[in-house]
Amino acid sequence: MNPESNSEHSALAPRYDLSLPPLPPAAFDLQDKVYALHCSEGPIPKATAEALQGFLGKELRPWELDWQGEALGFPARAREAAAALLQAEVEDISLMASTSGGLQAIALGFPWQEGDEILVPMGEFPSNAYPWKALAPRGVTFREVRLWTGHRAGGEALTSAAPAVESDTEARILAAISRKTKVLALSWVRFQDGLKLDLARLGQACRDRGVHMVVDGIQGAGTHVPDLRWASAFATGSHKGLLAPQGSGFLWTSQELRSQLQPSGTWLGVEDGNNFARPSTDFKREWLTDGRCLEPGGPAVMMALGLATSLRTILEAGVARIADHIGALQGRFLEGLAGLPEWRSEALRLEQLRAADRLGPILALHSRNDGQAALISLMQKGFRRGICSSVREGYLRIAFHGWHGGTDVDRLLAWLSGTAS
Ligand SMILES: Cc1ncc(COP(=O)(O)O)c(C=O)c1O
Repeated sequence: MNPESNSEHSALAPRYDLSLPPLPPAAFDLQDKVYALHCSEGPIPKATAEALQGFLGKELRPWELDWQGEALGFPARAREAAAALLQAEVEDISLMASTSGGLQAIALGFPWQEGDEILVPMGEFPSNAYPWKALAPRGVTFREVRLWTGHRAGGEALTSAAPAVESDTEARILAAISRKTKVLALSWVRFQDGLKLDLARLGQACRDRGVHMVVDGIQGAGTHVPDLRWASAFATGSHKGLLAPQGSGFLWTSQELRSQLQPSGTWLGVEDGNNFARPSTDFKREWLTDGRCLEPGGPAVMMALGLATSLRTILEAGVARIADHIGALQGRFLEGLAGLPEWRSEALRLEQLRAADRLGPILALHSRNDGQAALISLMQKGFRRGICSSVREGYLRIAFHGWHGGTDVDRLLAWLSGTAS
């Protein structure tokens, strides 16, 4: 199928112009690559690299470091940018080193009772499993829910069926909530099959039942806008769609959940923690009640600078614009893919999910009968042609972001049609 023809709406409306990406490609150093791999590791913008390189001089000459403006100021800027990204209050943001860090703060700080349960969709990334599984000695159980007919995970993941538009995953999750469930912990966008869960529907139902919905948001953060009105927490690392270096991230918590959590117990998590005019050994202080009470320790100054700079780049482009652009790229790609006989059924399955707003940035092409080995070989063939994709649990993942354009779509289609040379 010619990607420029046969479009239902082409006769009715002008085609979305893929040549005007919200993130300028020149802001990155992607060279000749079609980098469709931010679901694994996002590229940082050149501006972030420059900011970090500039800051390294201060590590060489620490007398130049401005404690208020930089050591505390960069984390403050990162919290503000994270709040703007989520359209949330800055008081509800805690800087973390990773998604895991945010989820651990909740797992370790929640007032669990023996017999409590954490419910999770089957096939979560391990970051959203082990913090909860580590609670087993306290009598807290971790229970998984199958999301659609034929859904498999764990040792059977490679025999799983793929999600389809008619799979009502949210209904299955909600039906599995029991009287013991205290927390529903789930990925907003799933790492292997790319499905985006309906946070508003799940969150509302959780709120009605007194269950906290805790979201692992890393696979949608920076590319899509989450609806957190009924959520209790949103944890993300920043090294994927947020385009910041590994080792940074943040946690958003509702005031209501946070008030129940044990503080992390760190020196900047108390009143006046930063006031050296007061004796540091005066431990008679209140815990802070804002997100800083959950942060892991002294300020990760450099990481905060990287995060703040990358988030500014994303905010300037606008997350909603990035999401629209990704949707258009996916639509154009799937239209072309449907013209390749070997990929047609996958293209149709994914297009239905896309049209129903069930996808994040990842298009996860299922291995069907070919198996994972064939996908890995295809991925490697792509790498040799400058096309970076990834394979997880029987899916070939192609992740679009705000800098991709129509040429990237064409190169991906040429690769998958076997015509790339
Ligand atoms: C859904 C999901 N959560 C979390 C992570 C990473 O977690 P962390 O930030 O703790 O390294 C990944 C990485 O692939 C992921 O796909």
